[in-house]
Amino acid sequence: MIQIGFIGYGSMGSMLLQGFIKSGVITPEEIIISTRTKSKLEDIKNKYPGINTANNNSDAAKNAKYIFVCVEPLTVKEVLAEIKDSLSSESVIISIAGTVSIKNIVDLTRTKVVKLIPSLTSEVSEGISLVCYNEQITDEEATYIEALLNGISRVKRIKEDDFGLATELTSCAPGFFAAILDEFVQSALRQNSALSQKDIEDMVIQTFYGTAKVLTEQHMSFSEMVRRVATKGGITEEGVKVFNAELPETFDKMFEVTLNKH
Ligand SMILES: NC(=O)c1ccc[n+]([C@@H]2O[C@H](COP(=O)([O-])OP(=O)(O)OC[C@H]3O[C@@H](n4cnc5c(N)ncnc54)[C@H](OP(=O)(O)O)[C@@H]3O)[C@@H](O)[C@H]2O)c1
Repeated sequence: MIQIGFIGYGSMGSMLLQGFIKSGVITPEEIIISTRTKSKLEDIKNKYPGINTANNNSDAAKNAKYIFVCVEPLTVKEVLAEIKDSLSSESVIISIAGTVSIKNIVDLTRTKVVKLIPSLTSEVSEGISLVCYNEQITDEEATYIEALLNGISRVKRIKEDDFGLATELTSCAPGFFAAILDEFVQSALRQNSALSQKDIEDMVIQTFYGTAKVLTEQHMSFSEMVRRVATKGGITEEGVKVFNAELPETFDKMFEVTLNKH
């Protein structure tokens, strides 16, 4: 039997598959893949000659122990219905759709289930993968899954009830941060300087990267960072006062909208 099956090779499916191979935890020969657009399978074969491709989702599911379901949320149930007769009691379904519950999947498939929320940051082997297991998953299976995920991220086990907020903080956050930085850049562009957009973007991105490095490598708290930069009576202090006054309402509103959508 092949170790790992992938169903769906889009943004997340390709990131996980390529990340697992690159990390060296698994080889292409240990993977079988199926996706909707069959021509994509040829490209994957060219890139990873030893990889196994399946004619349909059921074949991928039948031949693998761990099956990563990486299709759009609205397609998950259709795919599970398609593969359920190809699963055994030892199959492990790993679903990355935040809006589909473990219970939904167990009800449909009667097998072992893992809920996983990856983050785009795993493209550079950074960030956090969130996981939650149903009771049928053994310690050995959980250890194997975490060995895979540790190759591309840090792993955090959380309760399924906490997935909503945690997903915002790890998986949606790259999109949120990019949107915030874009507003920062657009506002800088409105300030009538001779700096080009490229100059401004370079300054912002490099400084954001450096800030994240200082926070993580020196275990510096947010308040310590603010204190170190915002000298009393200086310019940063004035800017921070504006954020403190304006941003709580904006972020509360954002969480209200996004958490309601879950
Ligand atoms: N994007 C993120 O940052 C992120 C983060 C965490 C979780 N997620 C979750 O990850 C899942 C996938 O998201 P994504 O961003 O990777 O979406 P995506 O880029 O649209 O990829 C979806 C893939 O599913 C494949 N597919 C669709 N229907 C199929 C079927 N019936 N059988 C086999 N394959 C099928 C598509 O195949 P073809 O391309 O071959 O047509 C496509 O490759 C979603 O549930 C999403 O909520 C996404």
